[in-house]
Amino acid sequence: MKFDTDVLVVGAGPMGATTALALASRGIRVRVVTRYRWVSNSPRAHITNQRAMEVLRDLGVEQAALQLGSSWDQMGDTLFTTSLAGEEIARIRTWGTGDARRGDYITASPCGMLDLPQSRLEPILLGAAAERGADLSFMTEYLRHQQDADGVTVILRDRLDDREYSVRCRYLVGADGARSTIVDQLGLPLEGQMGRASTAYVRFKADLSQYTQHRPSILYWILTPGAAFGEIGMGLLRAVTPWTEWIAGWGYDPARGEPDFSDEAVARKIREMVGDPGLEFDTLGTSTWQVNQAYALSFGIGRVFCGGDAVHRHPPSGGLGSNTGIQDAFNLAWKLAYVIKGYATQAILDSYSAERVPVAAQIVERANLSRVEYQPFRDAVARGAAPSADRGEDVATRDAIADAMMLKNYEFNAQGVELNQRYASQAILPDDPDEEQWARDRELFVQPSTRPGAHLPHAWLVGMDGTRVSTLDMVGGGDFVLLTGLAGAAWSDAVARLARPYLRIVRIGDPGAKDLYGDWRRASAGVHEAGALLVRPDGFIGWRQRSPVWDTDEAERMIEEALSAILERNGL
Ligand code: FDA
Repeated sequence: MKFDTDVLVVGAGPMGATTALALASRGIRVRVVTRYRWVSNSPRAHITNQRAMEVLRDLGVEQAALQLGSSWDQMGDTLFTTSLAGEEIARIRTWGTGDARRGDYITASPCGMLDLPQSRLEPILLGAAAERGADLSFMTEYLRHQQDADGVTVILRDRLDDREYSVRCRYLVGADGARSTIVDQLGLPLEGQMGRASTAYVRFKADLSQYTQHRPSILYWILTPGAAFGEIGMGLLRAVTPWTEWIAGWGYDPARGEPDFSDEAVARKIREMVGDPGLEFDTLGTSTWQVNQAYALSFGIGRVFCGGDAVHRHPPSGGLGSNTGIQDAFNLAWKLAYVIKGYATQAILDSYSAERVPVAAQIVERANLSRVEYQPFRDAVARGAAPSADRGEDVATRDAIADAMMLKNYEFNAQGVELNQRYASQAILPDDPDEEQWARDRELFVQPSTRPGAHLPHAWLVGMDGTRVSTLDMVGGGDFVLLTGLAGAAWSDAVARLARPYLRIVRIGDPGAKDLYGDWRRASAGVHEAGALLVRPDGFIGWRQRSPVWDTDEAERMIEEALSAILERNGL
């Protein structure tokens, strides 16, 4: 049977573009369609977290992203102030830039955080995907699909000439955003509520460096009467390009109509938030967006899979949307590639929902809770007679403000939310019946683990030329990796004998992967040097053998059983 493409991806946002890039990188025929003539026409997502950066690193576009983003150290001296020029009430060091957290962040990943507007990220992903063979069709609208036992027939409309045509593919990926037609058509059950609150955004150009460059942050929260509506109850000034391009945002009540975006109203609002009545600026655009709190209980049916905002819809708090979509894509793409190449049976695709729905549930709840958690701060400020808490006797107000700021770590320093995913599915073979014990707050702090279902811990090794390489650089690239130590000769021999095209051996301690700092020895405590980890192409540990294996036959049998259980779901 003839297929026009192996995978058709609807949507060129972070989810669709990453899916296309990951598939094209593995030699899979993929076509991306988007209804618009180009990428996102506004900056939208920007905070790019470490796990998403690890995905970009694996896909070979990390450096391109770093070149176009604002660096990590510019991201995080976040103010809560009466206006940019006005009196400050509190500050919090965010995104791991604070002295107390920076070590946690750099210990957990070879990648830092990055501020990269979506409108700059998408061309990087799409450009690399096209370079590696993906077909891109702009101005192309998805209309409907029909699936059968062998493939999916998709009906598209070319918006340039209004022509409808069909494309036959093996799999369809719905990366069509928060108003997903594909999710609706599949009837995927959505849990939660859409349109909980509404926000107005104005993008503008103005040089605000005099207010910001000495306390750099990408977010400035403004407590001002003109932006006091809603759950957050504050305005937001967000640096798109430090310090000349900005977004001003505030909550509005949709029951009272759309926000007033007239020139005078916008000028009043921006000047009030900046605290400069004479500020000159150029408006670049206005928009509104709704606060949703919903996720799909299943991410696909048959040969159609959805990801990104299509299946998890929530506010930007904590910057979890694009980041999660990028990881959905990375999870789904290797599984599709393996099925298409004949390395895995279709059964593995069930693990996509099993692994990613719990992540969606968690981030949807966290992002919405992060909005609610502004209340203690606003209450604390309100209890003082003036916004400023500098009246000598008002100790209680200052205590309350300090407590309220601690709560905001769950939005702004939630490294655990970003990196502590644990997968449970048929593509993970657990070996420990006991629940994992979390030594510290699971949302705030990363807990490295070699348990199946956890992501491979990052540790610095020493490469061929004496520079540092991460354990994460040793895995990925579309392959399964059997990771062992210098004592793991039996595993090396077994992998060589098995000669699977998708399986590599990595022996920590070999030239190019020397554990000279001893970091890996500590990170892999509990796994003998002659034991092994089977790391999936997405960097998650699928299986492990903690005790030593010295016999090649035994090692070969174990690897074969584990691979077959993961890829063919034959069970162990
Ligand atoms: P996205 O909505 O980006 O893309 C959908 C794609 O589908 C588009 O290409 C569209 O053309 C296409 N499409 C839809 N219907 C179609 C059809 N019928 N036919 C053809 N094409 C169709 N996230 C984050 O991680 N960090 C952050 O800092 C922020 N900040 C942020 C701020 C603001 C103001 C907003 C509104 C959002 C964020 N986000 C965020 C969230 C982030 O923007 C969002 O999660 C991602 O854009 C979702 O990516 P997707 O690829 O899933 O959908």
